[in-house]
Amino acid sequence: MKILVVGGGGREHALVWKIGQSPLVDTVYCAPGNPGIAELAECVHIPADDIDGLLDFAKAEQIDLTVVGPEVPLTMGIVDRFQDAGLEIFGPNQAAAQIEGSKSFSKDLMAKYDIPTAAYRTFSDRDAAVDYIEKQGAPIVVKANGLAAGKGVVVATTKAQAIEAVDSIMLDAVFGEAGSSVVIEEFMAGEEASFFAFTDGTNILPLASSQDHKPAFDNDEGPNTGGMGAYSPAPVVTDTLTTEIVETIVKPTIRGMAQDGCPYVGILYVGLMIADGKPRVVEFNARFGDPEAQPLLVRMKSDVVPVLQACARGELTISELEWHDKAAVCVVMASGGYPASYEKGLPISGLDEAGAMEDVVVFHAGTSFQDGQVVNTGGRVLGVTGLGTTVADAIARAYQAVDKISWPKVHFRTDIGKKALNR
Ligand code: AMP
Ligand code: GLY
Repeated sequence: MKILVVGGGGREHALVWKIGQSPLVDTVYCAPGNPGIAELAECVHIPADDIDGLLDFAKAEQIDLTVVGPEVPLTMGIVDRFQDAGLEIFGPNQAAAQIEGSKSFSKDLMAKYDIPTAAYRTFSDRDAAVDYIEKQGAPIVVKANGLAAGKGVVVATTKAQAIEAVDSIMLDAVFGEAGSSVVIEEFMAGEEASFFAFTDGTNILPLASSQDHKPAFDNDEGPNTGGMGAYSPAPVVTDTLTTEIVETIVKPTIRGMAQDGCPYVGILYVGLMIADGKPRVVEFNARFGDPEAQPLLVRMKSDVVPVLQACARGELTISELEWHDKAAVCVVMASGGYPASYEKGLPISGLDEAGAMEDVVVFHAGTSFQDGQVVNTGGRVLGVTGLGTTVADAIARAYQAVDKISWPKVHFRTDIGKKALNR
């Protein structure tokens, strides 16, 4: 069969890497892809948000299954458009993608179905939001209601900081339309983890545990990013906790969405805060995590293609996934300055040497070809992923590979996976 992967980041490189190993697949296309993906798939120059272009391509090439990586095409309704054209596609439709695209949608869903999360209020009036902050006090969390590329959240330690956040989101409109209303939320203490489940709208198939590292610097300091590294399995998610997450969060969410006439199909990303052994939802996303997809897909032993196809067809009967025993750790190598501004076009050395190492996969994210060289073009540039018998071995492996790669001003965290070792 022919598969089209939509997107061009590290997550999509990992999807292409895994999908290409399936005996069911003849050709993998990726739009737009990146230089790493180009080694495994045929890249087509169509941006991930050009739905008309993607649809024309899929029809012309008679694509059997399209797999959507990022949230933007999902919230734009790519799934509805493909289905209307009779094409098979993996991901939630526009209505269901609101679970990520609208914070108030997902908070209201959680309130309605008793899914554990932080207490919240939604405001479209700046003064009412400020009044609420004055009454609640700090710490408190302010979120732009719409999509803001993972940057629309301020965890405020003082009331003044929270009010400043409301003003920049609502008055200065730093996230545009996404900030026309805000969600103000109780601060939750604890340890974060990511949990994923495939679903066909009714049945669910949970994945192995994983953990992201959102802050830019070691010891979880500095501004939040899209994710500076991830590993799997994550010991903070014990077997007991997994059962609780599935029963109290994943199942009621999928059941609730179906009951509300907006069944969720695809992979559900549950961002969790775990305190005293109890999980609460920080956020839902309508897609695979980036960089969590990298260690998870490297560890996945089962063929992912029948799973993606079964979800898209509403026939998910597979009840368990098989995983390699090894642990996987992905260290993100970023452009110096990210998540703020950074210099682009800097040549990257050592890619071949690192990529040739055993138990190492170098996933590309923000790279491109320039004058025959691979250069950085995005904030997150590479996801260097190592496998090992234990998390400690996988960390060592990943950093041995990181040491071989360099470019001017490269930045990476040196403590990815350390939380697992502390347990
Ligand atoms: P979100 O985009 O909603 O995932 O938020 C980004 C990050 O902000 C999360 O990964 C958490 O680190 C933090 N965060 C969001 N909501 C809360 C909350 N209610 N309490 C504590 N931290 C939060
Ligand atoms: N790793 C965070 C995200 O994919 O949103």
